[in-house]
Amino acid sequence: MFSTMVLCIILLLLLVYLGSRKPKGYPPGPKWWPILGCAIELARLRKETGYMFRTCSALCKKYGPVVGLKVGIDRIVVLNDHESVRTMLTNEDCDGRPVGLLYEARTFGSRKGLVLVDGNLWIEQRKFVLRHLRDFGFGRQDMVMIIQEESRSLVEHIKKLINNERNNQINESKIHCNNNEYDDGQIYKLIKRDKANELELMDKYGKSEEQLKSSDLYVDTDKYVQINQIDARPGTIIPMHNAFGITVLNTLWRMIAGKRFDVDDEKPIYLQEILTQVLTEIDMLGAPFGHFPLLRFIAPEISGYKSFVKIHQQLWDYLKDELDNHKATFTPGSPRDLMDVYLTVLNSKDYSNTFSESQLLAVCMDLFMAGSETTSKALSFCFLYLVLFPKVQRKAQEEIDKIIGRNRLPTLDDRTKMFIGRTLNIPHRAQRDTTILGHKIPKNTMLIVNFNRILMDESWSDPEDFRPERFIDESGNIITPAAYFPFSLGKHRCMGENLARNNTFVIATTLLQAFTFSIVSGEEPSIQDFVDGVTIGPKPFRVMVSLRS
Ligand code: HEM
Repeated sequence: MFSTMVLCIILLLLLVYLGSRKPKGYPPGPKWWPILGCAIELARLRKETGYMFRTCSALCKKYGPVVGLKVGIDRIVVLNDHESVRTMLTNEDCDGRPVGLLYEARTFGSRKGLVLVDGNLWIEQRKFVLRHLRDFGFGRQDMVMIIQEESRSLVEHIKKLINNERNNQINESKIHCNNNEYDDGQIYKLIKRDKANELELMDKYGKSEEQLKSSDLYVDTDKYVQINQIDARPGTIIPMHNAFGITVLNTLWRMIAGKRFDVDDEKPIYLQEILTQVLTEIDMLGAPFGHFPLLRFIAPEISGYKSFVKIHQQLWDYLKDELDNHKATFTPGSPRDLMDVYLTVLNSKDYSNTFSESQLLAVCMDLFMAGSETTSKALSFCFLYLVLFPKVQRKAQEEIDKIIGRNRLPTLDDRTKMFIGRTLNIPHRAQRDTTILGHKIPKNTMLIVNFNRILMDESWSDPEDFRPERFIDESGNIITPAAYFPFSLGKHRCMGENLARNNTFVIATTLLQAFTFSIVSGEEPSIQDFVDGVTIGPKPFRVMVSLRS
C-alpha cells in the first residue's frame, strides 16, 4: 500500500516536472512553472497593461514576434508580426481548432458548429452553409437590399428618439412656462398683463391692455422651439457602443431563420447582452476553467464555468424554439431560409454524419455570435472615431452628399472606405508537429494571432490617428496594404467578410446621410480604453445625435 502511494506521488511529480519543461525548439517566452505554466506572468502583465492584446504585445517586445507560452494544460504560441502570421495562416498543418473543455462546453459535450471545429465536419458544414446562404441573398445584390432596409429602419428609430426627445423638451418647457394652465401647443410669453407694461405691450402689439387677447400672449410651440433654440438642430443623446446589435443581426438572421427583430425587441437584446457578457469573461487564449479543467468542480463560479454554460444554454433554448417553430411550419420543397434547407437534408434518407439537429443549432449559434458581435463592435469603433475626429466626419458627409445625395440609399457602387476593429484572432491549432519560421510547434499547440499588433503597430506610423486617406491613393483608388487583413487569410478566412464589409459601409453611410454625431459635453470617450474579451469593443459611450440641416 505504502509503496503504491510512493509510486503514485513519484509519477505525479514526474508529470508535473515534465509539464514544466519546454519542448526543444519551442518559441521563446516566460518561464513555465509546474501546473501553472506562465499563468502568473500573464496575469501580472494583463493587470499592468489592462488588456490581453497589450499583454501579447508586451511579450513580443521582450521575446520577439513568435512567443511560446503554457497556461495550465494548454500550450499556446502567439504570433505578433505579419510574416509569422502569414506563414501560420497558409500552413495547412495549422488549420485545426483548439480542443478541450471550453470548446466542448459551449455545445454541451462535443465540438460542433462552424467557428471552433476542424476536419471533415468543418469542411462539409462550411461548404454547405456558404452555398445555401447564397440562395437566400448572402453575397448577392439581395443582401444589399436587406442591409438598406435595416439601415433605413435604424434611421427611423433614431429619428423617433429625436422626436420623442423634442416633444419631451417641449412638454417640459410648457410645464415650466405656463404651468399647464393654457391650451396645449402654446407657450406663455412671460409678459405680464399689468399697467406697468402697457407701453411695452403697445409697442409690441399695437394694442392697449384692454384690447389685448390672451392668444396674443402665447406662441406656437414649434416657433417657440425655433425662437428659443431649445435645440438649434433637433437631437438626442444615445448610447453608441451597443446601437447596432439588432440591425446587424437582422441582416443575417433573415437569411438563417427568415426573421427580423425590431430595434427595441427585448428578447434578442437580452440574448446579445448575455452573449457580450460571456465573451467578456473569456478571451482568445481561453478561460480559467479551460486551462485548469479541475476548476469546473472546485470553483465552478469563480472559474466562469457556470455562467458560460448557463448563457450558452439560454441561447441554445432560444434557437431550439426557433427550430421547433420551423419544424411545425415546414413545407417540403419550399425552403424559406437556411434552417429549412438544413431540415430538408435531415428529413432525407441519405446524408453525411456531420449533419444533425444539434449541429444545425450549433451553426445558428456560431453565426449569431460571429455575425453580430464583430460587425456591431466594428461599427461602434467607427462612430467612436467619427465623434472624436469631427473633421473626418464632415468630410465623409460632404462626400456622401456629393456622390449619393440625401434622397437615395447607398449601394455598393458608392463604396469607398470601411473601418474595422482590432483584436486577437480565433485560435488555430497545430494538427500535427510543424514549424513556423524555424520554431518547433508541437501537435495540439494553440496558435493565436495578435491582430492588434499587426493592424496598429509602428509600421503604420500614426495608427491612432483616424486618417481614412491612408487607404486611398492619389487617383482616389482604394489601396489595401499587405498587412491589412482583419478577416484573416487561408482556409479559415472569415465566412462573413462580404456581409460585414457591406454592413459596415451601408449602415455607417446611411446614418451619416441623416445625422451628425458629436461628443456629449463632459463625456469625451477614450480610444485607449476598451472592454476586453474575445472581441474587444469600445467602453460604453454616449453621443449626441442630431438631424442634419
Ligand atoms: C467586422 C466584422 C468581422 C470581422 C472583423 C471578422 C473577422 C473574422 C476572423 C479574424 C476570423 C478568423 C479566421 C481565422 O481563424 O483565421 C473569422 C472567422 C469567422 N467569421 Fe468573421 N468577422 C466578421 C464578421 C463576420 C460575420 C458577419 C459573419 C457571419 C456570417 C462571420 C462569420 C465567421 C465564421 C463562420 C468564421 C469561422 C470560419 C472558419 O473557421 O472556417 N464573421 N472572422
